[in-house]
Amino acid sequence: MRQPIMQGRGYYNAHSSLQARSAEEADAMLERALAAAALPEGPITIADFGSSQGRNSMRQIALALDRLAARAAHKDMMVVHTDLPGSDFTSLFQLLETEPHSYLRGRERAFASAIGRSFYERLLPADSLAIGWSSFALHWLSALPQPVGAHIWPVLAAPDEARSLAEVAARDWHSFLSHRAEELVPGGQLVLVIGAMDDSGATGLEPLMDMANGVLTKLVAEGRLSAEEHATMTIPARPRMRDEFTAPFEKGELPRLGLEEFVIAQTPNPALLRWQETGDTTALAADITGFFIAAFGPSLFGDNDGLRELFASRLAAEIALAPEVARPLVTATMRISRRRG
Ligand SMILES: C[S@@+](CC[C@H](N)C(=O)[O-])C[C@H]1O[C@@H](n2cnc3c(N)ncnc32)[C@H](O)[C@@H]1O
Repeated sequence: MRQPIMQGRGYYNAHSSLQARSAEEADAMLERALAAAALPEGPITIADFGSSQGRNSMRQIALALDRLAARAAHKDMMVVHTDLPGSDFTSLFQLLETEPHSYLRGRERAFASAIGRSFYERLLPADSLAIGWSSFALHWLSALPQPVGAHIWPVLAAPDEARSLAEVAARDWHSFLSHRAEELVPGGQLVLVIGAMDDSGATGLEPLMDMANGVLTKLVAEGRLSAEEHATMTIPARPRMRDEFTAPFEKGELPRLGLEEFVIAQTPNPALLRWQETGDTTALAADITGFFIAAFGPSLFGDNDGLRELFASRLAAEIALAPEVARPLVTATMRISRRRG
């Protein structure tokens, strides 16, 4: 399995307004977390788990810095961005230095750093984390039990494949939470925005994934992609259902953590909203293709730029003919606290 990183050289930053808009729905929850978080004696640590190239968390981190500074003036604050080792950290650090909306601007007590290690491992010292934020990262899996045979999208896997994917998703969720339970200060807070399934098992991506898989099947028929390579192409992500998120809390497996707030809902898709306003199908196709390549290009195509570009042009052409494949994403938003005492 390839590391599920995002399309590099800043491409993800430029093509992830869908994720940014969806994450806005968590603003009120983030405010409540910032008001509730217990603050440590020394410097305050804020972590961004699965930050990618950073653009989409600038606003939330700036908010966290300002709200916590209002509660604890004169405290230094360390922001830790975490992602997989192969992620494009260069774009993140360039953005922090050069962009007008970098949270470092005008905030002299804020310090930025990064960790290149899976968030399914321990990342931070015990009892050190006041606020953890993560958006659109925790549906990515640590491993694939096997490639999904007939599709690229694990949600559309055959029942026996689906069972082993669900086991990995459950193990990963438990690992993430148990490591954070060590790292949070008592009273510390996590706010997580995660791709999810609704009660019918839909994530909002299935029509687009069917179309993408159809494009790849046609490329096989044309001899542009081998059938063997197509068979190994699987996006290593598995959005979870409501009871999969709540299971470790309900089973009492994480006694130090409390699930304070939890919502699964469709979140606005800005490309779709723009299309409904303007009727510009070409722009919609470009937006949705950019979103797809930014998030899933590296998992499917690795460094094969030629194949990725051919696929992207075919996908855009098909979306322009069937714009109804663009849907709102189903998203889980939750606030978790580490119990005091
Ligand atoms: C869709 S991006 C989300 C980026 C950003 N948080 C946002 O909201 O737009 C998902 C990020 O999660 C990272 N990721 C996936 N699995 C991970 C893991 N096990 N540990 C750390 N990061 C991971 C990917 O590399 C990618 O940068």
